[in-house]
Amino acid sequence: MPNHKVLLLHGPNLNLLGDRETGIYGKDTTEHINNEIHAAAEEMGIDCEIRQSNHEGTLIDLLHGARGQFEGVVINAGALTHYSIALRDAIAAIRMPTIEVHMSNVHAREEFRHKSVIAPVCAGSIIGFGKYSYILALQGLKELL
Ligand code: DQA
Repeated sequence: MPNHKVLLLHGPNLNLLGDRETGIYGKDTTEHINNEIHAAAEEMGIDCEIRQSNHEGTLIDLLHGARGQFEGVVINAGALTHYSIALRDAIAAIRMPTIEVHMSNVHAREEFRHKSVIAPVCAGSIIGFGKYSYILALQGLKELL
C-alpha cells in the first residue's frame, strides 16, 4: 500500500518553539519537533509535508492547495484557532479529514483559549500532549484514512 500523504500546518508563532514561553511549550525547537514528526510519520507509513506560516491568508492558501495533493491535514492554528472564521471556512471547504492540534491544554489556560472556532469542522482534536500532540494526531488521522 502506498504511503498516506498528509499536510501538517503550524500557524502563527509556532516557528519560535524552543524560545517562546518554554514553560508552556517546552524547550524543543520547531526544527527538532519537525524532525521527530517526520521520523514518527515514516514509521507510520505517512509522507508528511510540514509547513509553517504566521499569516492567516497563507495558511488558507496552503489548505486550498492541499486538495488533490494530500489525503488529510493536521493543523495547529495557534491563536487563529480562537477567532479565525476564514480558517474554519477553509477547513470546511476542502472536505478533507483535518485534525486540530494544540501542544498546551488550552482548557486549563485563559478563557479566550477555551473556544475553538475550527473544532466543529475538524474530524477530531488532540490537546495538551506537548510535541506528542502532533504524533498522536497523525496516528488518529491514519485511522481515519
Ligand atoms: C496553541 C494554543 C494557542 O492558544 C496559542 O495561541 C498557540 C499555541 C498550542 O499549541 O497550545 O499559539 O495552539
